[in-house]
Amino acid sequence: MRLVEPSLEWKEQHENYTEEWGLERMVPSSMDLSGFRSYEEYLKALDMRVQGKGQWVPSSHYFLVNNFNQIVGMIDIRHELNEYLRTIGGHIGYSIRPSERKKGYTSYLLKEALIICKELNIKQVLITCNEDNIGSAKVILNNGGIEVDLFITEEGLMKRRFWISLN
Ligand SMILES: CC(C)(COP(=O)(O)OP(=O)(O)OC[C@H]1O[C@@H](n2cnc3c(N)ncnc32)[C@H](O)[C@@H]1OP(=O)(O)O)[C@@H](O)C(=O)NCCC(=O)NCCS
Repeated sequence: MRLVEPSLEWKEQHENYTEEWGLERMVPSSMDLSGFRSYEEYLKALDMRVQGKGQWVPSSHYFLVNNFNQIVGMIDIRHELNEYLRTIGGHIGYSIRPSERKKGYTSYLLKEALIICKELNIKQVLITCNEDNIGSAKVILNNGGIEVDLFITEEGLMKRRFWISLN
């Protein structure tokens, strides 16, 4: 398993992941291909995020790739928190493709992400998950997450908030 950054090389795999994902809103949203006329256009928009331009804080984005060069997961690391990220989004967002879930890949993904956070000198990592997302909460807790509160969004969505200390 390894983490790779999105590039033209991964276009077909990314599209394949999107197809399997179906109609549900893509998580992380940075990996959502809808609304772009080409993959090149998508990569340009992603680069805006990476560089922290416009509304974005600087961020890193990776595919989790298996030994068959298939994308099995995706992860975002936001280097700083703004108002939205502090309450709802957190530093890290991730997903595993539906056919590869419950195989332990999230634990691997989160461990790798925490190493990157440490390199970025992030000392306290905020991760949130929907109240009913048992799998995600389990992995966060297993990786040292301390649950602090439940944030209720304007739409009534309940977000469990966890901090992981990297000191
Ligand atoms: C949340 C998500 C990433 C979990 O992926 P996964 O591949 O199932 O994760 P893992 O296999 O590493 O499972 C982690 C743990 O949760 C458990 N788990 C996973 N899904 C579960 C579920 N629906 N109910 C109960 N337990 C569950 C696993 O059994 C495992 O437990 P263990 O550590 O005791 O063995 C995946 O379901 C997903 O991509 N969901 C959509 C996007 C999303 O919600 N992202 C998270 C945003 S915070």
